[in-house]
Amino acid sequence: MEFLKTELDYLRNANLYRQLRWFEGSQSPRTTVNGRDCILLSSNNYLGLTDHPDVKDAALKALARWGTGSGGSRLISGNFFLYKELEDKIAQFKNAEEVIVFSSGYLTNIGTISSLVGPEDAVISDELNHASIIDGCRLSRARVVIFGHKDMLQLEKALNETQDCRRRLVITDGVFSMDGDLAPLPEIVALAEKNDAFVMVDDAHATGILGSQGTGTVEHFNLEGKVAVQVGTLSKALASCGGYVTGKSDLINYLRNKARSFIYSTGLPPAAVGAAIAAIDLIREKPEIRARLFDNANFLREGLTRLGFTILTMESQIIPILIGDDGLTMAMDKALFERGVFVTGIRPPSVPPGTSRLRVSVMATHTREDLEEVLNIFESAGRETGLI
Ligand SMILES: Cc1ncc(COP(=O)(O)O)c(C=O)c1O
Repeated sequence: MEFLKTELDYLRNANLYRQLRWFEGSQSPRTTVNGRDCILLSSNNYLGLTDHPDVKDAALKALARWGTGSGGSRLISGNFFLYKELEDKIAQFKNAEEVIVFSSGYLTNIGTISSLVGPEDAVISDELNHASIIDGCRLSRARVVIFGHKDMLQLEKALNETQDCRRRLVITDGVFSMDGDLAPLPEIVALAEKNDAFVMVDDAHATGILGSQGTGTVEHFNLEGKVAVQVGTLSKALASCGGYVTGKSDLINYLRNKARSFIYSTGLPPAAVGAAIAAIDLIREKPEIRARLFDNANFLREGLTRLGFTILTMESQIIPILIGDDGLTMAMDKALFERGVFVTGIRPPSVPPGTSRLRVSVMATHTREDLEEVLNIFESAGRETGLI
């Protein structure tokens, strides 16, 4: 097992070694990490709902009523009525015929993709799609064709080249997780329709956020009814964990029967289900929470741009600050943390080589005071590291 040490040494020397950091507080705007009080700017808890009293109360009530665990996979014995409440709630929210909930977003993607396409098919995927999509494509054993990020000419070429395949599935993130930009969904849908392919969108970072009701990119682009497979997670704006697929009843029944990560994995703990139900209710009833998120994102983006940081895209609550060099990225991560701001440096393989960055994600619950302090700290850390 000497290779373990060799590989770990390689990662350390290449500035690619990863270490866990320990939270001693919740995912709130101000928390404690590794013993240091800091402003959290790296969480997918975009709406701040993991700390909302209604969400916590719903989780506690679900736990009290249904217990701590589901005791089995949903098709064997672990299928509480509470899951139906959640699936009905998501169906109503997303205006979908039916919904299936998996135990994580990762499991949703690998199970969905690998059951929808196989060796006689092609899956056509944006190069910056999330790792769980990449792994789902690999597991499917379908022919995988990658198109350049948002490159519609390459997508068209891929569709032309795969005409001999039995089925063609085009997959894209709705909001790209490390870049924060939106997929050109109208163009993707039009090309897929023209070529008799079907589309899957992963709205992990758009669920609860984009669109007039917060249901995601399909609503944002007015494409209701045009995207056959819509995936999302409960783990980000919905303040819980788990993943879902929405679509026609046939699709959902098919996944219940075919998706191995659904069939062979234990159902979500009831507290997580209760929390997600309450989070959806809040998103529907209180649009002002989303409005605060957008305000905060605009404020922070403008401030960081003014300071001279290079912001890759300006389209969502995810603000990627491009640094490029892995070592410099981690130096900035450290300088920020020492001054009281927690933002994780993102390096390959999470992003392409040479594009290491700070992935800043703002929350609806940050106050203006928090963000002003963040900007002061970015200025000081940026000067120390020579970034600005
Ligand atoms: C685009 C995208 N899809 C899927 C996932 C996986 O979701 P989960 O963390 O709920 O497993 C993530 C999580 O980071 C993601 O960013």
